[in-house]
Amino acid sequence: MAPMGIRLSPLGVAVFCLLGVGIIYHLYSGVLSGRIAAFRQRETVDLRELLALSVEAAVLGGREVKRVREDNALEEKSKGETKEGAKEKLTLGDLSSHRNMYQLIKTAFPSLQVNSEEHDNTRVEDLPAWDRRIPEEIAQVVGRSQEVLPESITVWIDPLDATQEYTENLRKYVTTMVCVAVNGAPVIGVIHKPFTGYTAWAMVDGGSNVKPRDSYNEKSPRVIVSRSHAGKVKGFVEAAFGNNTVIFPAGGAGYKVLALLNPTDEKYEEADVYLHITYVKKWDICAGNAILRALGGHMTTLKGEEINYTGSEANNGGLLASIHMDHKALVLRLPARDAEKHR
Ligand SMILES: *[C@@H]1O[C@H](CO)[C@@H](O)[C@H](O)[C@H]1NC(C)=O
Ligand SMILES: *[C@@H]1O[C@H](CO)[C@@H](O)[C@H](O)[C@H]1NC(C)=O
Repeated sequence: MAPMGIRLSPLGVAVFCLLGVGIIYHLYSGVLSGRIAAFRQRETVDLRELLALSVEAAVLGGREVKRVREDNALEEKSKGETKEGAKEKLTLGDLSSHRNMYQLIKTAFPSLQVNSEEHDNTRVEDLPAWDRRIPEEIAQVVGRSQEVLPESITVWIDPLDATQEYTENLRKYVTTMVCVAVNGAPVIGVIHKPFTGYTAWAMVDGGSNVKPRDSYNEKSPRVIVSRSHAGKVKGFVEAAFGNNTVIFPAGGAGYKVLALLNPTDEKYEEADVYLHITYVKKWDICAGNAILRALGGHMTTLKGEEINYTGSEANNGGLLASIHMDHKALVLRLPARDAEKHR
C-alpha cells in the first residue's frame, strides 16, 4: 500500500523534465547572448585599416567626380545660399561621389558615425565591399595597428571640395577628402586630387606620404585665401602682415592646405599661411587639419583655439593654418583678433 505519497505518472515526469531543460536552456542562452553583446561592445577599430579605407574612399569618390566632369553631365543645381550670401551649388559629381564614398565606409564599418556634406541614401548597385587590404605604400610607413573604440570616432567626408570651381572647370582646385577624428581630435587626413590622381595622406603618430616644404617665410608670409572672399579678407591680411603681403586667392580648402606643403602632382602657389575669416564647415577642414597636425603644423580658429571635430558641423571662429612656424606668434599678429569688423 502506497503511503501518503504522490504518484508520479510517466507522462508527468516527462513534462517536468522538459520544462526543466527549457528553463535551463532559456537562462543559458540569455547569458550567452549577453556575453556576445559585451564582446561586440569591446570590439575596436584599427586606425591603420581606417586610413587604408579612407584613401580608397577618396579615390573612389574622385573617380565619380572626374567621370561626371568629363562627360559634362554636371546637372548643376543651387543648394541655396551660404551665410555669406554666396550661391552654394550641387552637381551630380558631388552626389555620385558621396554615394560611393559613404556606402564604402558604412558597409565596412556600420557602427561608425559618418558625417558627409551631402545627404543621400541612394544605393550604388555593384559597388564591391572593401577588401580590408592595407596597401604596401601605407604598410611601409605605418608599421603597426592602432586600436580605438568605435564610439570615439567621427568620420568626415567631403565628396567634392570646390564645387564652384568644378562648375567653372578650374580642375586643379577640386579635391575629395576623408578625415577621421578620435574624441574630437583630427588624426587621419586624406586629400585626393581627382584630375591628377594624386593623394596626400597622413596619420598622427603614424606617418604620411606628403612632407612640408624646406622653408617658410614667417616674417612676411604669403597668404592663401578663398577666391570667393579675397576682397573682404585683404584689409584683414594687410593689417596683420603689412601692406605688401602677397595674397593668393584659390578655391577649395583641401587645395589651400596642399599649397602649404610639398605635393608632387603639379605646381601650387607656395603659400606660408592659410587664412579664412568667415564660417567654414568641418568636412572642408578636418582632413587638412589632421595632415598638418601629423606633420607638426597647426590649424586653429583666428583666436588660436583648437577645432573640435565632434558635434556640430560648423566652425564659426575663422581659420589660421601654418606649419614650421610659431603659430601662437602668428595669432597675436592678427588685427584685434576680431574677424567680424572686416567682413
Ligand atoms: C571635443 O568635445 C568633446 C565633447 O564635448 C570632448 O569629450 C572632447 O574631449 C573634445 N575633444 C578635444 C580634442 O578637445
Ligand atoms: C596700409 O594701407 C592702409 C589702407 O590702404 C593705410 O591706411 C595704412 O596706413 C597702410 N599702412 C602702411 C604701414 O603703409
